[in-house]
Amino acid sequence: MALLIIGESPRTPDFAKATQARAPDREVRLWPNVGNAADVRYALAWGPPPGELKAYANLQMIVSVGAGVDHLFRDPELPDVPIVRYVDHDLTARMTGYVVLHALLHCRRMTEYADQQRRAIWNHLPEPAPQAVRVGVMGAGVLGHAAVQALGAVEFQVNAWSRTAKQISGARCFAGQDGLADFLAETDILVVLLPLTPNTKGLINADLLAQLSQRGRPRRLPGPVLINAGRGGLQVETAILQALDDRSLYAASLDVFETEPLDRDSPLWQHPRVVITPHNAAESTTESIVAYFLKQVAQHEAGQAPDNVVDRSLGY
Ligand code: NDP
Ligand code: OXD
Repeated sequence: MALLIIGESPRTPDFAKATQARAPDREVRLWPNVGNAADVRYALAWGPPPGELKAYANLQMIVSVGAGVDHLFRDPELPDVPIVRYVDHDLTARMTGYVVLHALLHCRRMTEYADQQRRAIWNHLPEPAPQAVRVGVMGAGVLGHAAVQALGAVEFQVNAWSRTAKQISGARCFAGQDGLADFLAETDILVVLLPLTPNTKGLINADLLAQLSQRGRPRRLPGPVLINAGRGGLQVETAILQALDDRSLYAASLDVFETEPLDRDSPLWQHPRVVITPHNAAESTTESIVAYFLKQVAQHEAGQAPDNVVDRSLGY
């Protein structure tokens, strides 16, 4: 019985090393040096080559290195075994920090202060109080829920939008396509923590951005803000640039992109009110990921259900 570590992440060899160190009695195979494929029972995967996992006839479970599993579903021949996504306090805490940091950063107009600093300009800009700013969180799952609580703790007004109806203390909740327009009309800062699925692809487009609240000006923000740490496939970058240029969008923080790494020629890099990070809003430690993987394997071997099994019909 072997554990397979597979995928395109440069961290894959580290995952293999850490798995072996933590489970010295286990046989750990690092793709593509797999040996006999029939030995493999469990896989820890990030972006395995499409068609590859079907070669493992005795595979019983796939554990995703990430919370998102779109990197697995791009394989049309993904074996019909449970897919477990990564859910961990370490990841959630990092994402919560990213969201609060970037909401406050734009609320405090820090991209403009950074520009003023470069030019040695001492000038006060009007800043809204967090209590006057409505943050709308798209996705009220593990990460969205934690972000809602943390944004409330720094006194933003918080709304949340999800597929199914929810009740979250301290937040107004909206759900489904029917609730989307009302949610957007109440949003000054839009935080995107959705999974990438056929239903969410391209959702952050010109039509959606045009529905964000513009009534914050001038006592609140100079205009709406977009923060996307979900997936790049959720957004249409030409629409974001257009909205920034015509000022219907004030600013953006983008951690994820339609194509990663972001092309060096993308105008997003140079935009004065865009903050770019390289898909690291919440990059968990190797130790946490490997411990989670081995925990799922142990549960499966003991006949217990693994945690956080993905619903294939929904794609998340
Ligand atoms: P969850 O599965 O816990 O939550 C997903 C949320 O999205 C749920 O509230 C779900 O609604 C909602 N949702 C899904 N589809 C739709 C839809 N069509 N319309 C409205 N709402 C929808 O996921 P996590 O919170 O753990 O993670 C969210 C995403 O964050 C991941 O899929 C991944 O893409 C991204 N991520 C990015 C990272 C980064 O570093 N940039 C790190 C980790 C994750 P409902 O509750 O009704 O099911
Ligand atoms: C994830 C990610 O999905 O890091 O966990 O993007």
